[in-house]
Amino acid sequence: MAIAMARRKFPTFALFTIGLVLSSDVSFRGFFVEGAVNVSEKRLIQQIAKNINPNVRPVLNPSEAVNITLDITFHGVIEMAEKYQILTSSVWVRQRWINQLIRWNTSEYGGLEEISIDSSLLWLPDIVLYNNVFEEFGGRMDNVKTRIRVNSTGHCYWAAPFIFKTSCHFNVRDFPFDEQQCKLKFGSWNLHKGLLDLVPKRNLAPVAKEKVENGEWNLTSIQIKRSEDEYACCPDEKYTDVTFYINLKRRSLFYTYNLIIPNFLIALLAFFSFYIPVECGERISFVITVLLSMTVFLLLVAESIPPTSEAVPVIGMYYTCSIIEVALALVATGISLKVYYSYLYGKGLSPRLRRFLFCRLGPLLWVDTEIVSGAKLAKNKSCLLFKCLKRPKSSVPRDSVISMYNVIENKANLLNGVATTAKNEANLLAVDAQTSAETDITLLETQNSLSGQEIRQRVKKTSTAPEPQHAVSSTLKGYKDTDFHATESRIAAAIVDRAFMVLFILVFFASTLIILLLPFIRKG
Ligand SMILES: *[C@@H]1O[C@H](CO)[C@@H](O)[C@H](O)[C@H]1NC(C)=O
Ligand SMILES: *[C@@H]1O[C@H](CO)[C@@H](O)[C@H](O)[C@H]1NC(C)=O
Ligand SMILES: *[C@@H]1O[C@H](CO)[C@@H](O)[C@H](O)[C@H]1NC(C)=O
Ligand SMILES: *[C@@H]1O[C@H](CO)[C@@H](O)[C@H](O)[C@H]1NC(C)=O
Ligand SMILES: *[C@@H]1O[C@H](CO)[C@@H](O)[C@H](O)[C@H]1NC(C)=O
Repeated sequence: MAIAMARRKFPTFALFTIGLVLSSDVSFRGFFVEGAVNVSEKRLIQQIAKNINPNVRPVLNPSEAVNITLDITFHGVIEMAEKYQILTSSVWVRQRWINQLIRWNTSEYGGLEEISIDSSLLWLPDIVLYNNVFEEFGGRMDNVKTRIRVNSTGHCYWAAPFIFKTSCHFNVRDFPFDEQQCKLKFGSWNLHKGLLDLVPKRNLAPVAKEKVENGEWNLTSIQIKRSEDEYACCPDEKYTDVTFYINLKRRSLFYTYNLIIPNFLIALLAFFSFYIPVECGERISFVITVLLSMTVFLLLVAESIPPTSEAVPVIGMYYTCSIIEVALALVATGISLKVYYSYLYGKGLSPRLRRFLFCRLGPLLWVDTEIVSGAKLAKNKSCLLFKCLKRPKSSVPRDSVISMYNVIENKANLLNGVATTAKNEANLLAVDAQTSAETDITLLETQNSLSGQEIRQRVKKTSTAPEPQHAVSSTLKGYKDTDFHATESRIAAAIVDRAFMVLFILVFFASTLIILLLPFIRKG
């Protein structure tokens, strides 16, 4: 039992002893080092704190200006909020000046050449970022409490890392192939040129080796310029400022993939509508659907650029142009449909239009202008032959032909000389002298209104009577005529379709190319 107790107690006791020894050692080192009171740096800082007032401008001659050398290292673009025209960037700012009030003899302070001292103990230049838009920061650089390095000759070096949010005028004209220039303007807030002078260290600012990479922006260069300005407050005093011009180039791959290529393909689809057969009946709605989907993409574009009326961005121009072209394609589809159904209304195609389509445009676009007439199979690929082909003059007025749609539906039957097209017209039954009466009867039996006996009687009557036969033959002529018209209109519509398709695709390609190359042409 006792052994167990001892075993249990031993480790705690050992730890306690070790802890005591260690802690006493640490406390001894920390507080009782001999000479700690007389460390030269401590003496020096005590001297500075006692003798230096941070509000005093560090010059011996009051009329002399403090020269501040301003330098930055650019650490990267964090964000570019195009919509609000704000650039968020990470920047390391370096300021150097000479404090003429501090100077020590290094041999008196144990060879100490440089000290690092809290910035509240020394004078700081009141440099402000003029185009700051970050409320909390307020643009005042001297609010940042990093330490200042001072050497024995009074040279001060003060560096601090900053996240700047600055207003940046955004030029939307070339979006998304644009280059932007944002600036960081630094200047003293209340010391004019005679009291504080800002000097840039070099002409081009360096970029940090391990910079923040931005997926959208490439940094091209940072120029530094010094200027002197007069402000409304104090007309006689000039204030100097140093401005860093950050040149950024957009990596446009994202926009090319997500906005330009989809729109390009969708617009091309619209022109494909001229290839869809008219009989399909979906052409107009197809083009309208395409138009709507393009409008949706246009909304996406509008969201990603600032709402400015200064200039039309290239991508906006491209979208508007494509929408106009697709809208015109919609009109063209209407025109082509009108040509297709022209045989239903009025006199059909005018001779001039017919000649233009069949003799000029048709051969040019390699459209097969072969006319298949109801009466005969007339192969007239050449224009001359077409001219020779005279349409049979119909004695029957157009009104007598009741259902012309049947002509299209059963054109194949008509070609065979079988007038089975007449679904509803009893008159036409008689035409079929060659076809057997039985087929007629079966045809008629499908009609619910007539009984089989009645039909047989009627058939006998019609077959004996000569008058209806004459009427029917003239109707057939009318059919052949409309058939000719229908075929002609269909081919005319095919020519018009082909012409529009070629025209629109050419115009679309040309306009796309010109618009998208515009930014590069402007840059020269
Ligand atoms: C402090 O150090 C200086 C030189 O380093 C010496 O002259 C002086 O006597 C020292 N004072 C004390 C209190 O140790
Ligand atoms: C600042 O620079 C000007 C000229 O560049 C010079 O005359 C002036 O003495 C400098 N001031 C200080 C404190 O060194
Ligand atoms: C620095 O101090 C040493 C001795 O304390 C002296 O010999 C020397 O002349 C001083 N140097 C200057 C520049 O005052
Ligand atoms: C103090 O720093 C400046 C600039 O960094 C340098 O030119 C100068 O030689 C330094 N003085 C000493 C004593 O190290
Ligand atoms: C951006 O920079 C990267 C490398 O840093 C380079 O590969 C790319 O081509 C540049 N893009 C543009 C648009 O300059």
